[in-house]
Amino acid sequence: MKKLLSLAVAVSIGISAHVHADRLSSELIKPIEPAVVTEPEKVELGKKLWFDPRLSMSGFISCNSCHNLSMGGSDNLPTSIGHNWAEGPINSPTVLNSSLAVAQFWDGRAADLKEQAGGPIANPLEMASNHALAVDVINSIPQYREEFARVYGSPEVTIENITDAIAVFEETLVTPNSRFDLWLKGDDSALTAQELAGYETFKSIGCVACHNGPAAGGTSFQRMGVVEPYQTDNPAEGRVAVTGKDADRFNFKVPTLRNVELTYPYFHDGAYWELEKAVDVMARLQLGRQLNEEEIGNVVAFLKTLTGDQPELSMPILPPSTNDTPRPQPFGAK
Ligand code: HEC
Ligand code: HEC
Repeated sequence: MKKLLSLAVAVSIGISAHVHADRLSSELIKPIEPAVVTEPEKVELGKKLWFDPRLSMSGFISCNSCHNLSMGGSDNLPTSIGHNWAEGPINSPTVLNSSLAVAQFWDGRAADLKEQAGGPIANPLEMASNHALAVDVINSIPQYREEFARVYGSPEVTIENITDAIAVFEETLVTPNSRFDLWLKGDDSALTAQELAGYETFKSIGCVACHNGPAAGGTSFQRMGVVEPYQTDNPAEGRVAVTGKDADRFNFKVPTLRNVELTYPYFHDGAYWELEKAVDVMARLQLGRQLNEEEIGNVVAFLKTLTGDQPELSMPILPPSTNDTPRPQPFGAK
């Protein structure tokens, strides 16, 4: 009897493992795996730098200002507010799961997170500092020097090491265990009938051709407005800015749909606040499909199942400035 029972258990495990393997291999969206931290001290240092507004000219703007980890890694504004209340040129994408993308920025002009992290510090419309000044600020703080010495073997802070630490911290900002991922891994009860219907629509009409991989996006650059042009006042032209090829005009990196319910407003110009409208625009402009209200509701219900565990962080306490630390200039040079 005992033998039979264990056989039955083995068979049922075998069957469910088979179903898991099926979804995991056949579906084009893959689960997000939890971050594996191999360098905890570097992650901790990167987290401090991520939250440190002293990397900005004003002493007020940190990476977290525009990629707020309490709000899905975005700022929930159409375009960001930078130094001196500068109006940013483009919507701030979420940093959650950004390590999974083929490249960074809407036009992919940075190859990876490390290359990306140097950009905002020196961008006059963002943190408006420069690398030399940012390095001077961090170098003037003994506790930072001690941490850099522990992590990089030298107390001398460089922009290389600053961006490396930030990038390694960002690699931990993944969001596993969404209900959709539980379903992918075989838990049939993880999704409702409506959410499943939405996913079927998402696949059958072709959304998944562009929004695929673990991030449900981030795997390619695609035209915004395949069937019908996208109307916008935003001057960004996308990928052509990097390649110079006319064919890349208005191609943007396909954004991740992970946590999309948290990262409104949508599109590179942040023009759409409602997920329903964003889905309607996508269906018409990318696929030439007019979805009815029920179909849109279903797809939106599916998209909300892509919200995963948000990174749980304890706020870092930043080491204090010293008498030698260059002073912030919140209102311009005095
Ligand atoms: C003033 C707002 C602002 C600040 C401050 C800021 N960012 Fe950004 N970030 C943006 C915007 C806007 C974009 C999109 C720019 C583009 O694509 O041209 C972006 C893009 C990114 C991306 C690419 C994401 C993707 O999907 O392509 C990453 C990663 C990122 N920022 C990390 C950082 C880090 C690290 C810092 C701090 C060193 C930082 N940001 C500071 C606004 C900001
Ligand atoms: C041909 C490729 C392609 C197809 C097909 C496609 N998308 Fe997109 N999607 C994109 C691109 C590119 C963007 C970014 C466009 C921009 O911001 O200008 C985007 C943006 C989005 C956004 C906004 C995300 C954000 O953070 O701003 C949502 C939501 C979205 N797509 C959902 C869908 C849905 C639902 C479908 C099917 C109805 C779909 N997409 C079909 C390429 C595609």
